Amino acid sequence: MMNLQKFTEESVEELRSKIDGKAIIACSGGVDSTVSAALVGKAIGKRFLAIYVNSGMMRENESEMVKEILTRMGINFKMVDAEDEFLDALKGVIDPEEKRKIIGERFIRIFEREARDFEAEYLVQGTIAPDWIESGDDVRDTIKSHHNVGGLPEDMHLTLVEPLRDLYKDEVRKVARYLGVDVSERQPFPGPALAIRIIGEVTRESVEIVRKACRIAEEEIEKAASEGMMEMPWQYFAVFLPVMSVGVHGDRRVYGGTVAIRAVKSVDGMSATYSKIPHEVLDVISQRITNEMKDWVNRVVYDITNKPPSTIEWE
Ligand code: XMP
Repeated sequence: MMNLQKFTEESVEELRSKIDGKAIIACSGGVDSTVSAALVGKAIGKRFLAIYVNSGMMRENESEMVKEILTRMGINFKMVDAEDEFLDALKGVIDPEEKRKIIGERFIRIFEREARDFEAEYLVQGTIAPDWIESGDDVRDTIKSHHNVGGLPEDMHLTLVEPLRDLYKDEVRKVARYLGVDVSERQPFPGPALAIRIIGEVTRESVEIVRKACRIAEEEIEKAASEGMMEMPWQYFAVFLPVMSVGVHGDRRVYGGTVAIRAVKSVDGMSATYSKIPHEVLDVISQRITNEMKDWVNRVVYDITNKPPSTIEWE
């Protein structure tokens, strides 16, 4: 049984003696980076800066939520608004790996700039035990750099600090609850954000579509799970497919895009089975999406593949 008070006190003490200058973290609002930020914030206060990069491809209200949580914890916080920068760089790109590469490079560029401005000497990362156990010690320093979207360059010359490196996810969640960090129960969200939930080009419009569809799917699945209608999936979201099909609005023939709903049961994301969501819940999701997003979407499908052979995300 983990002694949460002891863990917190000891790690704050250790961080305080280790970090003798300024430190910076890229905080995505995920459980690991937010808990890391909370611990380092307690240890060194204003010598610490949490950077949140708004790529314009985050979930609805994500930026406001992260800001609120970090500010409430008294953490020095900076939001970098980089929507135009990301969307411009992604213009015309449809290949998933190309999207990841572009997004990773943008994050690094922005982060480097911010680290320099703040004169940081230490880089805090939310690496947890499975991240380095699975990847081996040789690559440990780069695997989880920056919300998993890409490694930070070696010439950054920042000393790495990983307050959670000996913990497993369930333990991180316990620490989060103990510290009152609101993100403890959040589902995983990929570093490249909504860009990999849009099949095809990432545009302001396609991001808006998938963001709305994700919100509806999340709301209805969370509601159904809280009412005991279904088990809470490990991960659940929507994907926008630019597949056009014929539909009907009243007596008018329309031609619109497609949304796929994805929900899976998994332990660690390495393998997964699709969630057996009750049809009543799928029905509500479908109706809401086609009503609330009628200008864009007239068909909703449910993904019934496991991993393997599929992956959880569509890209
Ligand atoms: P896949 O799609 O590979 O996803 O079955 C497994 C888990 O990893 C997340 N995922 C990513 N996370 N950067 C991330 O930080 C990525 O490029 C990325 N791709 C997938 C996915 O959401 C799932 O939880």
